Amino acid sequence: MEETLYFRQVLAGHQVASSDPVAHQMANFMYLVGDPVTRQAMVVDPAWDVEGLLGLASDDGYEVSGALITHYHPDHVGGEMFGLKVQGLAQLLEQKAVPVFVNKHEADGLKRMTGASDSDLKKVDDGDTVRLGDQEVKFLHTPGHTPGSQCFLIGNRLVSGDTLFVQSCGRVDLPGGDADALYYSLTGKLAKLSHDTVLYPGHHYGPTPTSTIGEQMQQNYCLRMQSLDDWRRLMNRA
Ligand SMILES: [Fe+2]
Repeated sequence: MEETLYFRQVLAGHQVASSDPVAHQMANFMYLVGDPVTRQAMVVDPAWDVEGLLGLASDDGYEVSGALITHYHPDHVGGEMFGLKVQGLAQLLEQKAVPVFVNKHEADGLKRMTGASDSDLKKVDDGDTVRLGDQEVKFLHTPGHTPGSQCFLIGNRLVSGDTLFVQSCGRVDLPGGDADALYYSLTGKLAKLSHDTVLYPGHHYGPTPTSTIGEQMQQNYCLRMQSLDDWRRLMNRA
């Protein structure tokens, strides 16, 4: 099949920010997704090393022309974390005034964390899409880890942020976290995707960098919950 999508998974602390021990420990995945015809790409969760991310895109022959934000936590968009300054969206916007796609429920958090302004943001809702050459990016609102967490469905790829990891899922004990909302996002939305959908998570926490929804339906306790009561018991014990 002809390649109709440029898609690159980037591990912070390795391919970029390779000398940053915090980046290495946090193990964030960032992504470059682009159109091989126009050579325009979007960066998912620009953080840790903006020069490095732009450099990878450029080395591959792509220009970054947009940003897709899974959620506003500083390890995904930059900002202050444990008293450290993490690079991210603010530095990207200093270099290039690109549109930033964020769920409408996450916009205020993102502005607070990064200093981005309303004019920088494209506030999207569940089910919205944006074209990326031959493909489209579909926004899935998946609250739970944060109120405006979202995943991106691009063809058969799901970029899942901190909603779903390989073998686990996002925590709900941070401000704005909601265990019940995460249950419905996981069981009501992600578990309903085609089983051959390839999962691209927001952190390298599992034994492999990617998986499929089908595999995770078998192996991941977060997708195997039989009832909300079971889920609540599990989350309260954790
Ligand atoms: Fe997070």
